[in-house]
Order: sequence, then C-alpha cells, then structure tokens
Amino acid sequence: MMDPHRAPVGNIQPGKLSPIRNVPKHIERPEYMFHDGPEVVTASDVKSPEIIEKIREAGTIAADALYTAGDSIKPGVTTDELDRIAHEYMCDHGAYPSCLGYMGFKKSICTSVNEVICHGIPDDRPLEEGDIVNLDVTAYKNGVHGDTNAMFYVGEVDTESKLLCERTYTAMMRGIKAAKQGREINIIGRVIESYAKRFNYGVVEDFTGHGVGEAFHSGLIVPHYDTAPLHNDLIEPGMVFTIEPMLTMGAIAWDQWDDDWTVLTKDHGRSAQWEHTILVKEDGFEILTLPSQGQKSAAMPEL
Ligand code: MF3
Ligand code: CO
Ligand code: CO
Repeated sequence: MMDPHRAPVGNIQPGKLSPIRNVPKHIERPEYMFHDGPEVVTASDVKSPEIIEKIREAGTIAADALYTAGDSIKPGVTTDELDRIAHEYMCDHGAYPSCLGYMGFKKSICTSVNEVICHGIPDDRPLEEGDIVNLDVTAYKNGVHGDTNAMFYVGEVDTESKLLCERTYTAMMRGIKAAKQGREINIIGRVIESYAKRFNYGVVEDFTGHGVGEAFHSGLIVPHYDTAPLHNDLIEPGMVFTIEPMLTMGAIAWDQWDDDWTVLTKDHGRSAQWEHTILVKEDGFEILTLPSQGQKSAAMPEL
C-alpha cells in the first residue's frame, strides 16, 4: 500500500517506442532537420517586436498542446498516447513539434515520470496511480520556437510529491520575477537555489534554461543554481529565454539510459520541473507560453 504522505522510491524502466509520427508536408521544418548534429542558427537573444509576436504564437500553441495532452492524464494512459495528442495538436495548428528529430530525439514531446529528471521519451508504459509526470512541449512556427513544460498528477499523489511539484513551480516563478533588466543572468539561479534549499531539495545543475526563438537553444545559458561570478550576461529588455528549474527530493547525481536521452536521479528519488519562455520588459516580464484558455494543472499552486 502506498503511504499517502511519503513519496515512493522509483523503479522506472524503459518501454517500447511506437513508430515515428508523420508531420504534414506543408508544415515548415526547423533547420536542424536538414543536417546532422547541433542546430546552426545565429540570432541575438534580444528580439524585435515582430519576432516576439511570433514566439508568443508558437509558445501559445506549445502550451495549448501541453494542456490538451495533460487533460488526458489518468492511470492506464501511456506516455506515447500523450505524445500523440500533443503531436496532433501542434500539426493541426500549423506548428512543427520541435523535439521530433532534434539531435536524434524520436518523439514529439518529452515525458518525464517520477525519478526522471528530464528528456524522458514517450513509450508504452501506462501511467500508474500516484505517479507525477512532466510534459515538455516545444512548438516551431513562423521560424521560431516556444518552449514550456508542466507537472501533472496521476490520480491520487502523496503529500511529499505534491509539495515538490508545487514548490518547483514557485521556484520557477521566483526566478522569472527576479529576471529584471540590469541584473546578471546568475540572479535567476541564486533566487531559485535559495528558495529550494529551504526545503532541502536538490537543484539540478547540468541541465539549464536557454535562449530561445529562431534557435531552439540559442547558446545563452540560464543556470538554476548560483553560478556567480559566472553567467554574468546582463539582462536586457527584449531578451527571450526559458527558466526551467529541476528540483529533486534527494541528491542531484544522475544517470542516463542507453537511449542517450532519459536522465534520472541515481538515488531514484523523485524530481519535478516547470518551464516557461519569458520576455524581459522595461518594467517586468511577460510569459510567452501561457495556454490560451488559462488552463491549469492541479500540480500548480495558487500563488
Ligand atoms: N524542451 C527541452 C528543453 O526545455 C529540450 C528537449 S530536447 C529533446 O530545453 F530532444 F529532448 F526533445
Ligand atoms: Co527549454
Ligand atoms: Co522544454
């Protein structure tokens, strides 16, 4: 019997992948689909109003695909089915699912369950009562990407896991609010880390936020822990980047499966993540990856 308060130690195993999904011919592909290896895109991290509007459109499609898939989450549903739903939503809205074919990734979204930190590949594993799952969706349209992720509960979830999910959301929002012009990028991680440490959570260091827009990952790095005096890029109005902290219940040491993607905690303690693409403004910020109908996950706290 599951203890209703304590998070279980996980034992997740790789599943089987379904065949590669088709994207209609008329949908524009990102440039990395035309060659091997990393993307080759050069663009400033400070965006024009025209590019910002396009990122807002791609970001809204990504968020709506995410919450459309999220609506179907319940025990017994496979992560492959969630991938199918998000894939079809993006294609139906004229967007390319950025993950599909990115550096050899074979699915349209990432699904990271329980102790999986990030980059889980959708497969035939049915979700189980008590699981927590992250859906990470990136959509490409009109030459730009919008990138977002969120946590969901599968049925009844234990108290510790719920607190981890909610506090990770709060950590992301604190990082977003700290991203003010004139400060260094490292303010974001300092704020996130100091909040996470109140609860003794681990703050994953080896996967970071990033500049996003014409490129999926622009080269600008946004750490979620305090790296000062490193990562001292000045935050400027018009900058667009993601903030996507991963917090762990235990240690941050990680392993990777032989699929070359799935990253999970070595101690099999649970991990949670939230992500938004944000725009820095003269007087604050705008989230460019809000769902169009204000959909929420039960794993999102009332702030
Ligand atoms: N969306 C992830 C991020 O937040 C990147 C996923 S890359 C993939 O940066 F290839 F795994 F899809
Ligand atoms: Co990202
Ligand atoms: Co993402």
